[in-house]
Parts: sequence; structure tokens; C-alpha cells
Amino acid sequence: MIFTVAIDGPAAAGKGTISKAVAAHFGFAHLDTGLLYRAVGAKVLAGADAIQAARDLTAADLAGDLRAANVAQAASKVAVIPEVRAALLAFQQDFAARDGGAVLDGRDIGTVICPDADVKLFITASAEIRAERRFLEFSAKDDTTTRAKVLADVIARDTRDSERALAPLKPADNALTIDTSELSIADAIQAAIGHIAPSLG
Ligand code: DC
Repeated sequence: MIFTVAIDGPAAAGKGTISKAVAAHFGFAHLDTGLLYRAVGAKVLAGADAIQAARDLTAADLAGDLRAANVAQAASKVAVIPEVRAALLAFQQDFAARDGGAVLDGRDIGTVICPDADVKLFITASAEIRAERRFLEFSAKDDTTTRAKVLADVIARDTRDSERALAPLKPADNALTIDTSELSIADAIQAAIGHIAPSLG
């Protein structure tokens, strides 16, 4: 059975948490496509050429810790390069078409990677709430970070991801938008599962 769930949205809206929960609930495979761009961004920070790094990417490159703020910004920068996006396309589309169902989360899954996905969700939340979530995550590891810096980073990334010419972040026409600003994690997951279940027949 091929069944694809496309989940898009800005950073820290909750799409990773929701995607993992949806995949576990239905027994589908899950791909966090942001990791592909983060892995390329990390290689560029280490001195590599972005396009070559994207073309040479292997599964092992996704295994390290890619959560750092500078890696996220580097990912957002390499993600504007058309040749980088092209190099990562086939891997994502093959993953979406695997037998047994797949959940992919990112920025352009419902619009570009899987325009024919069976179900599309757009997960969002206000920039302030998303920055607060990231601040709590980062400040546990790095006590020099500030709320203002994390908010500025979130807004810079939103702007770059939404305003780029190719595959900008935006809801697909037929996506259900879930705003998690005022939702508990459990309620957001329930809303996603409740929307997907009827399409499985
Ligand atoms: O989801 P994330 O925060 O791990 O993504 C990191 C960056 O990668 C994001 O700012 C933009 C880019 N990205 C993208 O352009 N397309 C995707 N499908 C996923 C991520």
C-alpha cells in the first residue's frame, strides 16, 4: 500500500512531534526532510560546497546531532539553491512511494515533493510561541542564548523559507491547517490523526 501524508510548516510549530506520532499511530515510515537540508548546511559550515554536499549526501550524514541554531540557519540558506533542492528530490519522492505508508515533514512536501499526497497538513503557530518553545529547548543546553535572539532567528528563517523563489513555505491548496499556538500536543496529534483516518478507508 502506498499512502503519503505530507506535513509542512515553519520551524517549531510542532510538525516533527505530530509527524512522529502520526507515523507511529498508523505504522508508517517517517522522514524529517529538514534533516537533509541540515546535513548539507553542516557540511557547508565545515567548508564543503553546498551543491556537491547535497549530491554526495548519504544516510550516515543524517545520523549526527544537527539541531544547533547555526546549522538550522545554514540549512535555510542552502535550501534556496535550486541545485541543492534538485539533488534531494528523488530521495524524498522514493521515500514517499515506499510500500506501507509514509509521513514526510518539511516546507514543500505538499506543494512540490508530493503534490498528489493522500493527505496534507500545514502545522503552524505564532512566531512568539514557536520562539518560546525553541528558547526552552536551547536554554537547557546553552545558557547564553536569549529569548530575543531565538525570536530573531525564527523570524529570519521564516522570512527566508517563505520568500525564496523556489518551493517557498506555504500551505498546499488542499491542506488542513492546524494552529498549535493554543493546542496541547495531545490535542494537535488527535486533530491530525482524526483528519487522516477517513482517507485510509
Ligand atoms: O524543519 P527544519 O527546521 O529542520 O528545517 C531546516 C531548514 O531546512 C529550513 O529552515 C528550510 C529547509 N527545509 C526546506 O527548505 N525544505 C524542506 N522540505 C525542509 C527543510
